Amino acid sequence: MFPQSVFPDTAKVDSQGELVLGGCRASDLADEYGTPVYVLDEETLRARCRSFIDEFRKLHPATHVSYACKAYINPALARLFEEEGMGFDVVSGGELALAINSQVSLDEVYFHGNNKTPQELSEALENNIGWVVVDSFYEMDLLDRLAGEAGKTQDILIRVSPGIDPHTHVYTTTGILDSKFGFSIQTGDAANAVRMGLAAKNLNLRGLHFHLGSPIFELEPYRAAVDLVLRFAAEFREEGLELQRFSPGGGFAIGYTRDQEPPPVSAYAEAIVSTMTATCQDLKMDLPSLVIEPGRAIIGPAGVAIYRIGAIKDVPGVRKFVSVDGGMGDNIRPALYQAQYEVVAAGKANWEPEEKVTIAGKYCESGDLLATDVMLPKLESGDLLAIPAAGAYCPSMASNYNMNPRPPMVLVKDGKSRLIRRRESYQDLMHCDVV
Ligand code: LLP
Repeated sequence: MFPQSVFPDTAKVDSQGELVLGGCRASDLADEYGTPVYVLDEETLRARCRSFIDEFRKLHPATHVSYACKAYINPALARLFEEEGMGFDVVSGGELALAINSQVSLDEVYFHGNNKTPQELSEALENNIGWVVVDSFYEMDLLDRLAGEAGKTQDILIRVSPGIDPHTHVYTTTGILDSKFGFSIQTGDAANAVRMGLAAKNLNLRGLHFHLGSPIFELEPYRAAVDLVLRFAAEFREEGLELQRFSPGGGFAIGYTRDQEPPPVSAYAEAIVSTMTATCQDLKMDLPSLVIEPGRAIIGPAGVAIYRIGAIKDVPGVRKFVSVDGGMGDNIRPALYQAQYEVVAAGKANWEPEEKVTIAGKYCESGDLLATDVMLPKLESGDLLAIPAAGAYCPSMASNYNMNPRPPMVLVKDGKSRLIRRRESYQDLMHCDVV
């Protein structure tokens, strides 16, 4: 059975058994742009933006939704997200530069990161970005000084670490005590940071942020953390902390495999807003504006990677390796997080599975396997394979390992496709080398 739930909204299988995305046949996309190619479905992207904005605003009208650029960004997408009313979460001077170049509004840009450099903070100040999310005592000092030198007052949030485990991969768990991110509430650092933020001459402390990890399939960690951080904030009311903005970050899960059922956006919204409302009522505190930062849940489900099969190696009684023309260079997630994906034979999308195979990449690493022991129809060299739910953290974490060019990105809608990033050339790979 075709795993519809992990594919973009417009995905279907045509009468010839071929995968169609945004009205474009997978084989036509492969012919036009080559393989591997990352296909993004515009309708899914826009629908996901709308669902975050609508579901949260339904319950709390003063909600800002910022797209977490780290999931993947480029200028065409930045424009699209702005059209949909999203702000942006950036984590480097590079992401900020992309936002600036794309001419999106910088008022709802939040600059995150545990070790922003002096240069990055200066760039943020020069460009008058809306918000810096301060993550360390070092940064608080530095930003206060740089803002003073620039004659500016910078609005900030402080990132606190609530010490709550969201039960996801250890590499993507952030809100616990043993984490490089944020000021721990438990150790007293968060309290000191709030006092320092309130005292800083050139900083305007307007709220708190936390981010628990990603992807988070449970609602309870959000509920517990929202309650805990609001209670923490209330302790500083008398000292002058006005919680105007409150940001529980991102981390909203998506389905990677057919058996996964992430909570709908409405359930995350309900968990966060109802806890916030109840706790604020209890504390007799005004409701702050809410800032949420989905990345994966916006672009993940919209993206499908299409590869072409080359070599097939059968080790009888052991394993059958089916190699494709991409791999860990465009999708490091299986190697890094043991992430699992569905694999569909794009030209045989509704055929019965017949054999167990392992999908290998083309990189010089034995660990370069995109999917292990998956059931697929009989495959031949030249067939196309599609990996869904590949829009987030695949192209953005891509590398040029083995001097392989990174794949193109194509936006599809209503039977038309548009290249939004071309494939890298060999010349691109040598562009920065100095001979
Ligand atoms: N806000 C902050 C402060 C974050 O650190 C992150 C993700 C997000 C928002 C967005 O989270 P999302 O909604 O996309 O789950 N490379 C990993 C994911 C790392 C996430 C880092 N921070 C992966 O491939 O699973």
